[in-house]
Amino acid sequence: LKLGVLVSGNGTNLQAIIDSIKSGYLKAAVEVVVSSRDGVYALERAKNCGIRTFVVRPEDHGRAEEYEEEMIKLLNWAGVDLVVLAGFIKVLSPRFVRAFSGRIINIHPSLIPSFCGKGFYGIRVHRAVLEYGVKVTGATVHFVDEGTDTGPIILQKAVAVEDDDTPESLAARVLKVEHELLPEAIKLYAENRLQVAGRRVLIRKEEL
Ligand code: GRF
Repeated sequence: LKLGVLVSGNGTNLQAIIDSIKSGYLKAAVEVVVSSRDGVYALERAKNCGIRTFVVRPEDHGRAEEYEEEMIKLLNWAGVDLVVLAGFIKVLSPRFVRAFSGRIINIHPSLIPSFCGKGFYGIRVHRAVLEYGVKVTGATVHFVDEGTDTGPIILQKAVAVEDDDTPESLAARVLKVEHELLPEAIKLYAENRLQVAGRRVLIRKEEL
């Protein structure tokens, strides 16, 4: 399975994918890493293992359509089967989603539908979790549809919120869960074991 990984920052989720391929857990290849920002460590992680990297900055493109046209061309040129959003903070338009319909997955650091949607990314998610006072948070991997964090859910895993948690300490624990969940979701997709039934994603024991 050929992966195109979109990043915007540190790239620890990208690293988790790279490590799961190296360990033989995940039978896939990262064909290309595209970052929405220059100079982020995710690009170093990719270069360290010979993965082609590109920086496509939304602000370099007058209109969103032109930005996404370049992303679509790049991902198709690399022959990508599955687009993985790993710490990617741009919201992709319906046009991009339609170009890869059913072939984009995203990792989000909360139990969707809580604490998600516009403005809920990175440390802000965990700040909101602590402000609200929930006792359980977690991570979600889902298919990307034309909404923001609204696509059919593939995997979720819970993380208990501790009384002495700060947004940073909580983020670190959720991030560890993300690093397990994302490779597992890609593996299920690679093994063709995900069946979308309406809003639900059924996980088959063996290949469909
Ligand atoms: C983290 O907040 C993570 O929860 C979310 O994106 C941010 C950075 O991830 N998925 P990464 O380290 O760049 O993969």
